[in-house]
Amino acid sequence: MTFDLKDYRSALGSFATGVTIVTTLDSNGNGHGLTVNSFASVSLDPPLVLWCLGNKSDSYDLFSKCDAYAINILADNQGDLAMRFAGKGDQKLAAGDYATLETGSPVLPGTIAAFDTKVVQRIEAGDHLILIGQTLAYQRHDGQGLAYFRGQFGSTSALAKS
Ligand SMILES: Cc1cc2nc3c(=O)[nH]c(=O)nc-3n(C[C@H](O)[C@H](O)[C@H](O)COP(=O)(O)O)c2cc1C
Repeated sequence: MTFDLKDYRSALGSFATGVTIVTTLDSNGNGHGLTVNSFASVSLDPPLVLWCLGNKSDSYDLFSKCDAYAINILADNQGDLAMRFAGKGDQKLAAGDYATLETGSPVLPGTIAAFDTKVVQRIEAGDHLILIGQTLAYQRHDGQGLAYFRGQFGSTSALAKS
């Protein structure tokens, strides 16, 4: 079967996900973020998570080499933030815009959960790099999650109480 890539992407978009902003620090201590929906939990013991970084990303150099990252799980009112961190250009965070837990990776306000991880494995897979992180600290907050389905943002409010 030969794939029409656009159509194949649309078919993959039929899998509903949450939306995250993955953050890390550069060598000067500046925070950066990238909107990501390829986040998944891998293992509970040890606590491992993953996400996939596209190798055409302007942020590839930074995130492919980072030793730690934080996964910020967005609330349903953070769609604008998701679009901002999905844009081209340098997605820098100002120091006052975030908190930190264990690794120093930026933990954003207003999210429904955050996982602060150290990178334990990098796996090249096609045109993406899989970054597996071990969770060193996490937070969970009440609220509804931002959902993503077939190119549109929505809310988990139809699914669950916060
Ligand atoms: C809902 C959504 C999910 C995304 N998921 C990913 C992802 O899992 N991995 C990835 O590398 N890029 C993902 N992106 C694209 C990046 O956010 C985007 O490449 C980046 O922010 C802008 O370009 P740059 O990476 O070249 O700077 C996603 C974008 C959106 C809107």
